[in-house]
Amino acid sequence: MAIVAPSLLSADFTQLHEQIRLIENGGAEWIHLDIMDGHFVPNLTFGPLLVSAVRKMTDLVLDAHLMIENPDSYIEQFVSAGADYITVHEEAVIHLNRTVNRIKQLGAKAGVAINPSTPVSVLSEIVHDADLVLIMSVNPGFGGQEFIASAYRKLSEVKALIPNGKKTIIEVDGGVGPENAAGLVRAGTDVLVAGTSIFKSRDITATVREMKAAR
Ligand code: DX5
Ligand code: ZN
Repeated sequence: MAIVAPSLLSADFTQLHEQIRLIENGGAEWIHLDIMDGHFVPNLTFGPLLVSAVRKMTDLVLDAHLMIENPDSYIEQFVSAGADYITVHEEAVIHLNRTVNRIKQLGAKAGVAINPSTPVSVLSEIVHDADLVLIMSVNPGFGGQEFIASAYRKLSEVKALIPNGKKTIIEVDGGVGPENAAGLVRAGTDVLVAGTSIFKSRDITATVREMKAAR
């Protein structure tokens, strides 16, 4: 069964506590937190302050997706705020091995994300160290964009890169919903990130449940 990680980006922030209860009731295990800096992506969201507030509202796994330049300067703050997974973009980091190891030394799990235009081959060395690989299936920056189908091919490429016996989590993010969840699970996705399809649906809890059942 896939893990469903609702992205709070599309949630109603005036009802955050209630929205988190709704996804918990649907069986979501993770919460995806999109951190944007207005430089790496053309949008701004929130930082460690909100992550620590969410930490107080739930025991779910907090999955921080850092779409920011120079993430090294902020890793410690996100760990202190209570993030369980910290994912940085390959395109934003020069010394990726150092960054990934730093995340792990600070006690969090380390993820590496790649944009739709970035080939999977850039992960061939770091895949030995990363706990998670995030395949972006939209250009990061906004919720509600259309799924880019090359993610399917990239999923099988990532699977082929992961060393035998290593449990690297594969996550897909962008344009994911009940209509493509089963296909993505069959292609090897462990974690389905979904914002719009969950939080803008008529029944948030039922949509999470439906996506969890996808196989
Ligand atoms: C996009 C973010 C996604 C976003 C997905 O930059 O990384 O996590 O919230 O939103 P949907 O599911 O609406 O495509
Ligand atoms: Zn994301």
